[in-house]
Amino acid sequence: MATERTLSIIKPDAVAKNAIGAILQRFENAGLRIVAAKMMHLSPAQAGGFYAVHKERPFYGELCAFMSSGPVLISVLEGDNAIARNRELMGATDPRKAEAGTIRADFAESIDANAVHGSDAAETAAWEISYFFSQLEIAGRE
Ligand code: PPS
Repeated sequence: MATERTLSIIKPDAVAKNAIGAILQRFENAGLRIVAAKMMHLSPAQAGGFYAVHKERPFYGELCAFMSSGPVLISVLEGDNAIARNRELMGATDPRKAEAGTIRADFAESIDANAVHGSDAAETAAWEISYFFSQLEIAGRE
């Protein structure tokens, strides 16, 4: 199995609920290692840069406003198939469609306040990690 890294964001709604610890515990219980982490309160421009791929979508403005509405916990997770594993733990984007026991089923409110972000593919993960972290800030354990 391939060891991968993926970017995770615990979004403002989950941070406001004091769910950081519970969510990080799920990653660790699933065998994902936290190799970098920081709290940030993103500016609208920083959120906009991160979500630039969605610029043309109707919800872009709302998404950027939400992601800059409060602090977030940004981390790099490492482990076997980390990208897909994290997406499984997260559940579907819309919490009403998320499987029971997933992070979004348990912590998310709605499709816009949906508790967590996770990279969706290897190329996206590499770009997203480099958007927030320098090499020196990542403490791999391989
Ligand atoms: S995904 O997970 O990338 O396949 O999901 P996608 O449907 O492409 O959505 C991309 C991100 O946009 C958010 N989103 C929304 N925000 C506000 N309003 C609406 N209606 C909406 N629909 C989708 C969704 O939470 C995804 O955010 P991230 O941070 O990538 O999970």
